[in-house]
Amino acid sequence: MPNAYISGTGFYVPPRVVTNDDLANVYGIDTTHEWIVQRTGIEERRFSEAGVATSDLGLYASEEAIARAGIQKSDLDMIIFATLSPDMSFPGCGVFLQQKLGLCDLPDSKFVPALDIRNQCSGFLYGLGTAASMVQTGNAKHVLLVGAETHSAAIDLTTRGRAVSSLFGDGAGAVVVSATEENRGIRKWKLGADGRHANDLAQQVWDIKKRPFLPMSPEGVGQVYPEQMWPHMDGKQVFRHAVERMISVLMQTCVESGLTGADIDLFVFHQANLRINQYIQNHLGIPDEKMVSNIQRYGNTTAATIPILLAEAERSGKLKPGMKVAMVAFGAGFTWGCAIAEW
Ligand SMILES: CC(C)(COP(=O)(O)OP(=O)(O)OC[C@H]1O[C@@H](n2cnc3c(N)ncnc32)[C@H](O)[C@@H]1OP(=O)(O)O)[C@@H](O)C(=O)NCCC(=O)NCCS
Repeated sequence: MPNAYISGTGFYVPPRVVTNDDLANVYGIDTTHEWIVQRTGIEERRFSEAGVATSDLGLYASEEAIARAGIQKSDLDMIIFATLSPDMSFPGCGVFLQQKLGLCDLPDSKFVPALDIRNQCSGFLYGLGTAASMVQTGNAKHVLLVGAETHSAAIDLTTRGRAVSSLFGDGAGAVVVSATEENRGIRKWKLGADGRHANDLAQQVWDIKKRPFLPMSPEGVGQVYPEQMWPHMDGKQVFRHAVERMISVLMQTCVESGLTGADIDLFVFHQANLRINQYIQNHLGIPDEKMVSNIQRYGNTTAATIPILLAEAERSGKLKPGMKVAMVAFGAGFTWGCAIAEW
């Protein structure tokens, strides 16, 4: 059975920087830089312009990951796309990305499968488990795995939505998961979910139990009321469960891998809230030099946080071949996961 390893990383964030002061001064939200930084660590985030789709962000990140993997697009055997902010309701972003990469227009196109993953902040790790399994079972040699979000289009950028909208930003990260006979790669992954909390962090938009699924005006125009349109969150519940689940899934994955925390060289945590990650770091006694974070600059980019961190850590030299890396995420659902890789 081949090992599955991350052969290339890439990321893209839109150029437009939106600071906390911009939320107050440009969008008119009743908030302050101090409030947001004190509770979340976020200083700024990126918003893409109208006309840019999530699959576009994914495309830029993917092109870099493919180049850094040293393969051709035609070498890809599968696309996995994790997002909670897809271009449209259906089909998923995977097929749009496939087309934008030009994979369908190749003379010898393989028309590779394209799979969308709907696991929010844990989407990248759910995708990594899927990609690793495809590679280890010999069903694929190279899987392109993307996490990308366009939150700026779908958050309530008014005072009403400030508890959610001050947290999120746009961005994309991508990796290529490849087969190798070398003794390295993704060693272990564990995933979990607790559907009792499905409504603690959710964006309803429509209700499929209704006929039709959206209220309709007499003229036949679908209407979405603000409480359905925008995401809502029980922030305190999310915070508490994130801390508990991230600690326990990390410890379980280490134990089942025969490792202790001291054996891990780099901890790559989902970027929901700097205070969540600092709590976990202090609880487990992880030294600063083994942590990476970018929430200060990008906010929470949901499925994109971990692949962006991996790409940035590789570029800065913080992530080097041979290192043991623990990736941990928690998010809406609730869902969570951990993966340990030997880089
Ligand atoms: C969102 C979060 C920062 C809110 O902090 P909190 O201390 O729980 O704050 P609360 O939600 O209780 O709100 C306290 C007050 O601050 C206000 N507030 C919320 N967002 C605000 C903002 N951006 N600026 C100013 N005030 C804000 C609330 O309206 C509330 O006001 P009220 O008391 O007049 O009603 C915090 O709960 C959190 O980070 N949770 C985890 C969220 C997360 O990680 N989500 C992603 C998961 S993947």
